[in-house]
Amino acid sequence: MVENTGSIEALLREDRVFPPPAQFAEQANMPDSGIYERARQDPEGFWAGLAGELDWFEKWDQVLDWNPPFAKWFVGGKLNVSYNCIDRHLKTARKNKAAIIWEGEPGDWAVYTYQDLYREVCKAANGLQSLGVSKGDRVTIYLPMVPELPIAMLACARIGAAHSVVFGGFSADSLRDRINDSQSKVMITADGGYRRGGVVPLKQNADDSVTGDTPIEKMLVVRRTGTSDDRMVEGRDVWWHDLMANQPMTFEPEQMDSEDMLFMLYTSGTTGKPKGIVHTTGGYLTGTHATTKWVFDLKEDDVYWCTADIGWVTGHSYIVYGPLANGATSVMYEGSPDYPDRDRFWAIVEKYACTILYTAPTAIRTFMRWGEEYPNRHDMSSLRLLGSVGEPINPEAWVWYWQNIGGGRCPVVDTWWQTETGSILITPLPGVTTLKPGSATHPFPGIEVDVLDEAGNSVGPGGGGYLVIKRPWPSMLRTIYGDDERFREQYWSKYENIYFTGDGAKIDEDGYHWILGRVDDVINVAAHRVSTMEVESALVDNSKVAEAACIGRSDEIKGQAIVAFVTIKENVAASDELITELKQHVATKIGPICRPDDIHFAAELPKTRSGKIMRRLLRDVAEGRALGDTTTLADPAVVESLKAQYGDEE
Ligand code: PRX
Repeated sequence: MVENTGSIEALLREDRVFPPPAQFAEQANMPDSGIYERARQDPEGFWAGLAGELDWFEKWDQVLDWNPPFAKWFVGGKLNVSYNCIDRHLKTARKNKAAIIWEGEPGDWAVYTYQDLYREVCKAANGLQSLGVSKGDRVTIYLPMVPELPIAMLACARIGAAHSVVFGGFSADSLRDRINDSQSKVMITADGGYRRGGVVPLKQNADDSVTGDTPIEKMLVVRRTGTSDDRMVEGRDVWWHDLMANQPMTFEPEQMDSEDMLFMLYTSGTTGKPKGIVHTTGGYLTGTHATTKWVFDLKEDDVYWCTADIGWVTGHSYIVYGPLANGATSVMYEGSPDYPDRDRFWAIVEKYACTILYTAPTAIRTFMRWGEEYPNRHDMSSLRLLGSVGEPINPEAWVWYWQNIGGGRCPVVDTWWQTETGSILITPLPGVTTLKPGSATHPFPGIEVDVLDEAGNSVGPGGGGYLVIKRPWPSMLRTIYGDDERFREQYWSKYENIYFTGDGAKIDEDGYHWILGRVDDVINVAAHRVSTMEVESALVDNSKVAEAACIGRSDEIKGQAIVAFVTIKENVAASDELITELKQHVATKIGPICRPDDIHFAAELPKTRSGKIMRRLLRDVAEGRALGDTTTLADPAVVESLKAQYGDEE
C-alpha cells in the first residue's frame, strides 16, 4: 500500500514510489518483467512476434533492413492499416461493438460501431477515389474533431494514399506551407468547428490557403457548423454529405507494402520550416498496436479516452490507429475542457463510463488550479488507468492526478515519445513497473535508450545529458518528406548511427529515466512543439519589426511560455497597442498556439561576436536569474540594459 501523508512537504518533495496495485498486476496484459530481458536478447524476434499480431496479406521476408539512418521493417510484407483497424474485427464479436464514441462540444454525440465504421470508411474511400485520389497520393486533412476525421484517415489508408493532417488551430499560411510541401491535390475540411462556444472558421482558412498557385484541385467539405454555405466554390468544392450519399458501401483495401507511406505529419524543428515526418505502414502499426495494448492495458470492455487532438501525433497513434487496431472503444471529444463548465471532462468520463484516460500535464495543472470541486461533481469510479504525455509532469501534478482523478487506485503511466518516434518509447508497463512521480520510468521492451554527453560517452547515474536511441525501432520516422539530407542532419549527425531526440534527460541510481525538456530551439508550450525560429520569422514579417528573438520561459500551467524580445524599426514607437498587434500578427501568421505570452522591446539583442543571438542569456533575463557567462558577448552592455528594462516592466 502507498502511504498518502497529504502533507505539503510530501507534495513539494515527492519521493514516494507506487508499486502496481496487486489487483491490477494480476489482470495486466503484460504482467511479466522478464519481457525486458527477452526483448533485449532478441529485439528483432521480439518485434516480429508483435508484428505477427496484425493481419498480413503476405508475410515479410526480412524483419529489419538497417542501412543507417534508413530503416526498413518487415521487408516484403503486405498489409492494409484500414483492414487491420476495421475489417478484421468484423469477423469477431466486435462487429457491433462501439469503435468510436464521439461527443461534440455543443453536447451532440454519436456512436460508430466497427460495422458502421466499415461502411463509412468504404464510402469515403469510394468518394475520394471519385475525386481522383489514388495510391501514392497525399491528401491534406484540415478538420475539427469530428468523426469524419478518423473516417477520412482510414479511407486514405484503405486507398493507399498518405494523409497529412493539419491541426485545425493552424492559420491559412501554415496550412498553405504544408499543402505546398506535400503537393496534395485534394483537401478535406469543414465549414467550421466548435471551440469554447465559438466557431473556428476552418473553411475560410482553407480558402485563404489555396489562393494563387496551389496544387489543390478539389476541396471536400464537411458540414459541421452551417456557417460557410455561401463559400462553396463551383467546380472545386464538394460537400461531404453530397459525395457520400450514393457511394458503394464496400471498397477493396489496397495491399500496401510494409514500407509504403501511411501518413506524414508536420512538426516544428529548429528552423522556421516545419518538417513533414514520414511514417510507413507495417512498423508504425506494429508499434502503436503493441504499445496501446501493453501501456494502456486495453481490454475488450474498456472505454478508452485520449483527450488529444487528432491534429497531433498523439491523436493519430492513440485515438485512431493504436486503439482501433486493438478493436477497442475510443472516445473522441471535439471541444474545450471548460465548456460549458470546468467539469466537462469529468462529465464525459461519467457519461461513457471511461476506464482509461490519457491527457497532458498542462491540462492536469489547469484542473489542479480550478480545484477538486469539478471532478468531485461526478462519479469517476469507472476509471482504472491514467496516462500523461507531451511534456514533463511535475510530481505535484502527478500525485494530484493520481489522487483526485484516479481516486488513489489507478496507475499513472507517464509516456515519453515524439512525432518522430511514432509510438511510446519510454513508459511504465502498469502491471510490472513501480512508479516514481515525474519519471517516465523505463524504455519499452526492445527500445535501447541512453543519455550521452557532448562527446558521445554514456553519462553515469544521476548525470544529465542528451537522450538518444541506440537501435532502430519499427515505428520510427523513415525520413523528412522530400528531404533525406535534413533527416540525416537533424537526427543522425550528432552521434554516428544513433538517433538524437533533441531532449535532455538523466537516469537515476535505480535506472529510472527523467526527461528534462528540449535542448534545442524548440519550446514546449502546453504540450505543443513550437519552433522559436518560426515565431521569430512571423514577427519580422511585420513591417514594424527589425529583429526578434524568442525563448521559452517556465510557466506554472503551460510548462513553457513564449517570450519574444523585439527590436522595432527606428521610426516606430513602442506601445502597448504594438504589443497587442504583434501578438495577433503571430497568431494570424502561424496559429493561436504560437501567440507570444510576453513581448519586450529591446534596443538591441544580445549577440555573440559572430552575430548569433544568445538565447540562453535572454532566458536568464526573462526568468530573472543571475546572468551566466557573458564573455562571448559582443556588447555586454546590451544585456544590462535589457535586464534593467525588463525589471521595470515586472
Ligand atoms: O520534449 C519531449 C516532449 O514532447 C516532445 C515531442 O513533442 P511532439 O513531437 O509534439 O509529441 C508530443 C506527444 C508525443 C519530446 O521531444 N515530451 C513528450 N512526452 C513527454 C515529453 N517530455 C517529458 N515527458 C513526457 N512524457
